[in-house]
Amino acid sequence: SHRINIAIDGPAGAGKSTVARLVAKALQYIYVDTGAMYRAVTLKALESGIATDDSEMVGRLAYDLDIALLPGAESQQVWVNGEDVSDKLRSHEINRNVSYVARIESVRNRMSELQRLMAEEKGVVMDGRDIGTHVLPNAELKVFLTATPRERASRRFLELGPDAGISLDQLEQEIAERDRLDQEREIAPLVQAADARLIDSTGLTIEQVAEEIVRWSLEKA
Ligand code: C5P
Repeated sequence: SHRINIAIDGPAGAGKSTVARLVAKALQYIYVDTGAMYRAVTLKALESGIATDDSEMVGRLAYDLDIALLPGAESQQVWVNGEDVSDKLRSHEINRNVSYVARIESVRNRMSELQRLMAEEKGVVMDGRDIGTHVLPNAELKVFLTATPRERASRRFLELGPDAGISLDQLEQEIAERDRLDQEREIAPLVQAADARLIDSTGLTIEQVAEEIVRWSLEKA
């Protein structure tokens, strides 16, 4: 069987990255977390004191950064200009700012270009918001993964733990706000591709979702 590309899109906290990693492992494919790339640009903008809605400065930054994704044991490693920033990408501050960076056209153009290069040889499981619609419109398998906002917030709540000092309601609100920004932006908004298969993961385990996607991919490969 030959290698295919798999696009997994959906709203924040639907379990895309965990599912994508399991699918990649089962098929011995490469996992690419595109959200991490937008997070890396956001981190560097914040560190440099650039306003995350300053399109020109953030756009220039995105082109100047050397972003490398390395497959890691547990999750993917992200290196920027030779520094491992993997542990810095999930902060509250980045969560609140990343969708502003991701609205900028030049940033999206640059990230999409890098993502297409990574998928050139096929055998890639790529997760994000616009992979099936814009980055890899010819991906052999497209999945749109959702869950109710409450379920997505409570998964994140369990992940962070009560010591994180953020309530379930607050988390749900932040996730809803990020989804709204991602859905309403002009360029490559979050939307299900016409030819994507929908999975609502509410009430399913991550393993069940991953198994379903692996089955579908074997039909295509
Ligand atoms: O997937 P993750 O939650 O890490 O993505 C962080 C943010 O990056 C999203 O909320 C979205 O604004 C942006 N993003 C995007 N396009 C992608 C992946 C992520 O705009 N393909």
